[in-house]
Parts: sequence; structure tokens; C-alpha cells
Amino acid sequence: MTPVKNRRSLQKKLLSWYRRNRRDLPWRRTGDPYRIMVSEIMLQQTQVATVIPYYLRFIKTFPTPSSLARSPLQNVLKLWEGLGYYTRARNLHRAAQAIHEQWNDQVPSTVEGLSSLPGIGRYTAGAVASIAFDVKAPVLDGNVRRVFCRIFAIRKDPRQAAVQDRLWGLAADLLPDRNVGDFNQALMELGAAVCLPRTPFCSLCPVRKSCRAYQLGLQDRLPLRIERRTVPHNKIAVALIQNGRGLLMGPRPEGGLLAGLWSFPEMDGSKATTHRRIEQEIEKRFGLEPNLLRPLEPVTHTFSHKRITYHPYLFNCVSASKRLPEPWRWIPAAKIADYPLPNATRKIFDQIAVDVQLAKRATPLPLAAERATVYRKRPK
Ligand code: ADE
Repeated sequence: MTPVKNRRSLQKKLLSWYRRNRRDLPWRRTGDPYRIMVSEIMLQQTQVATVIPYYLRFIKTFPTPSSLARSPLQNVLKLWEGLGYYTRARNLHRAAQAIHEQWNDQVPSTVEGLSSLPGIGRYTAGAVASIAFDVKAPVLDGNVRRVFCRIFAIRKDPRQAAVQDRLWGLAADLLPDRNVGDFNQALMELGAAVCLPRTPFCSLCPVRKSCRAYQLGLQDRLPLRIERRTVPHNKIAVALIQNGRGLLMGPRPEGGLLAGLWSFPEMDGSKATTHRRIEQEIEKRFGLEPNLLRPLEPVTHTFSHKRITYHPYLFNCVSASKRLPEPWRWIPAAKIADYPLPNATRKIFDQIAVDVQLAKRATPLPLAAERATVYRKRPK
């Protein structure tokens, strides 16, 4: 690959732009590799503004790798509730256990060491190594990919393996010898604030003079947008079965969607779902005889790979003396919000929480302190 010609000037311009324009974010106020690692894992597929309150709460509850390693997974999932992509939380918990047991409570300082931890891929290893340890390691996330496709006018599908290799090569080739973390964050910040997907603010860009897409007037057309496949849309029927002891709930199975989070019994809702069919299924699975109280409002949730519309039904059940099959439990309504719940389950439960004595809404209202925390650009 031909090396980048004006590398020094790009480095200087990007670094000085970053120093003047960087947002004051909580993980930029620390040099603690563990905190930086937590922030980078939360920031995968998630916007900065969403991450901030989760990050602050997480670090307050688990300030060190050992405090996280010792916690039950359910408490970690509860703190992650609403952030999505829960595999990240399970992997972060396992990574903390590995750091505690194998790395003497110290986050590894090399790309190889970091990559050996569960859930740490090439991007996260590069981000943590460069930001926390100033290791000369590249990063390539969606923002950086867009910036490079424009600066170097790459007119190929950036998801192709050969194009990815080229982009990683450029990311490595452009790195300065020092301030590597700042340089990588400058690229991310440029992508997040200036080099936007649809209408980039080229007039504000510190490197527009070196940007091939800008010179060629291609900035709105790069990177190439390849039509997304339409995602499948499934229907699921959800049974909220209540009796004097609470509502029937269970943890979702290992290895499946939303593993470890708690939800109500679900069944295929693609066929014409009648409450009779649901009642029969409940009888078969749990040996219970429910009676329909009322249908609730459907809730649609979009995952990365599919969309699901949940059709919830509220049932009453008097035949509750039987032993439930594992791992199902009757959970008192007032305790449901203490369990880690998928977003859709929270929305469904909130529809009946007001009816159920003592129940708290499962969706927490934002804390006043969090609402008041506004992260602004650092003053010049
Ligand atoms: N996205 C991923 N890592 C980030 C960081 N360190 N700062 C801002 N946005 C990011």
C-alpha cells in the first residue's frame, strides 16, 4: 500500500482541531484503563448521549475490575438494562473476572493482552491501548471508516473484506508516534461532529484541503451506501399471568436473544393468535388454567437483525398451587423492576403496573442529577 503522503500535516491539523473542539466527556476526564475500557464497550453501537448516564452509574457501582468481577451477573445486567446488546455486558463481566484472576487486577496494556479478553475485538483493543496507554494502535469504527472513505475517496463498498483491510492499513499508517489516543479520538470526533453521514459540514473541517472527496465534490456520495436487506418482522404473543403471588416470569435461556434478562412466557404469534390458543399453550407448558382479563397494547422493538411485534395478553390464574417448571417463578409486581428486563418487557409491564398494587413502573424516570448533567465543549 502506498503510504499517506501528507501524513504529518493531517496529524497536526487533526490533533490541534481536537484540542480545541473535543467534547468534555466523563471518560475523557480519567486515565484509568478500566474506566476507558468500560466506556469503549458501552460506546459500541451506542450514541455518546445515551451512554453517559449508564457509564456514570456503572462506574459508581463497579469502580474497579474486582468489584465488577465479584458481582452477580444479574446485577450487571440490571445496570445495563435499556442499553441493548446485552452480550456486551456479559462479556465485560467475564473480562473483569479474567483481569481479576489472570492479570492481577490490571487491565492489559497491549493490543494482544486486551484482545485475549472476552468481547474485546480489534476496534476496542486499539481504542483502549491507544487512549489508556498511548500504544501506537489503530482504530476503525463507523465514524472513522466514513472519514477515511472521504479523505481518500474510496469508491468501493466499505464492508468488503479487501476494503476493510485497506482502511485498517490507512488507520495504522496515519498514526503519530505520540498522542495516539488523542489522534484516534480526533478521527472519531470528526466523524461524530463534522464529517456526518448525510450532510457533512465541510466548511468546518480541519482537513478539507486534503480531502479527495471534497476536492471531487463526492462528499455527499461517499462512503458508498449499499441498500440494506429488509429485516424480518416477527410476531410474538406474550402471556402476563397473574395470581395472588405475582406474575409468572423466567430468565431467558443462555445463548439466545436477550439471554439472562427476565421476561413473561412468549409464544409464536405468527399464526392467527387467539387467547384460547395461548391458554392451551400455558396449560401444556405450566399446568396452569388461565382466564383472559384483557389484551394489552402491542409493543414493537427493533433489534440489529430483526423487528418483533409483541402482542401481550393479561390473564388471571387461580390454579397456582402446582409446582412451576424450572426456572419459572411468581414475581411480586412490586419486585419486577428489580430484575433486568428487556425494553419490550418493561413497556408491556408498565401498561399494567398502575393496576397492580404496590407495583413500581419498570421504566425508571431519569434521576435529577443525570438530567442536569450537560456535557459541553470544553471552553477554549
Ligand atoms: N466512540 C467510541 N469511542 C469514543 C470516544 N472515546 N469518545 C467519543 N466517542 C466515541
